Amino acid sequence: METVSFSRLEEIDPHETVAIYGRGQRGQVVYDFIHKHKKVECDLMLASLESDTESTPPVRLIDEVDIAELEKRVLIIASASHEKVCQKLRDRGYSKKVYIFKPEGRIGSAGRINKFAELKKAKKYLEVGVSQGVTFNNVSVDTKYAVDPKFRFTFPPDSPHIYEITSDDFFTNTPDIKFDIIFIDGLHHFEQAFRDFCNSLMFAHDDTIWLIDDTVPRDIYSAGRDQLGSVGLRAKEIGGSEKAWHGDVYKTVFAIRDFFPVLSYCTIIGPGNPQTLVWKSPRKNFTPLFNSLEAIERMDYYQFLSLKEEMIPVSEEEAYELLP
Ligand SMILES: C[S@@+](CC[C@H](N)C(=O)[O-])C[C@H]1O[C@@H](n2cnc3c(N)ncnc32)[C@H](O)[C@@H]1O
Repeated sequence: METVSFSRLEEIDPHETVAIYGRGQRGQVVYDFIHKHKKVECDLMLASLESDTESTPPVRLIDEVDIAELEKRVLIIASASHEKVCQKLRDRGYSKKVYIFKPEGRIGSAGRINKFAELKKAKKYLEVGVSQGVTFNNVSVDTKYAVDPKFRFTFPPDSPHIYEITSDDFFTNTPDIKFDIIFIDGLHHFEQAFRDFCNSLMFAHDDTIWLIDDTVPRDIYSAGRDQLGSVGLRAKEIGGSEKAWHGDVYKTVFAIRDFFPVLSYCTIIGPGNPQTLVWKSPRKNFTPLFNSLEAIERMDYYQFLSLKEEMIPVSEEEAYELLP
């Protein structure tokens, strides 16, 4: 077994065909990467171990796949449950090399933030919504503040700047500090994400940059406001094991677009979760699009799709160049 990170995927020689285990976000990222950069056929994707839904070709359940056929391919496991998958494959007699894909940070969130940190010589970092610390623990900035009402891991004792409270409580009880980078990834509801952004303005200086996660929903289900309901409905309607949930955070970008013309933004689309980058710089020739917070709040997924260009989609490299 060998572990590969996203940057090392380039080094893999897939010998023409490749099988990827993991149909979730990680699987998709690796799949897209292999297609785009290696230009080889990725002709087999395997679905989740736990999946009891009927899969459509070319996705096959791991229990059903022909092991001899699989051994002819390079196998990359791009799944959070890689140990279980590997064990299952070994149990079924698979003996060849397996690559485990481990993203640097949450599909590159930490990698991306570290690049911005280097560019901006950032010393102070705030993350709103930390969960298991996948991004937080991989961000290399001197002073880091973590805010989450429920951390899903344990910090080493005496870790500074750990706030197990809601973002509202954090912003209303924290003494004056100015962050260089603010990563907003808390509750995926418009009113909360937008409030997090507005509150964080008081904790910013002229050169602060923001990264807002989950601003581009994967599909209509992902854009629902009820996480369990949306994911459950997707499984019922189209099957598969996709669990993505972005909520209606996308409306935050339209609120910034219409109500903060003194700020500039773009949305990074590429490997990993799309994220919106915001920085202080007045926009030229500003005219509001909705001119109503209420209309933004009422936006639906179809309207979002028709206005996607307003998110200013760019590649990660283009985003680095846009920053002053
Ligand atoms: C998507 S996860 C964060 C993932 C993390 N940023 C990463 O990249 O690894 C969202 C987190 O937001 C937290 N959250 C929910 N409501 C919140 C609130 N009001 N304030 C701060 N965090 C909140 C949840 O507990 C959850 O852990």
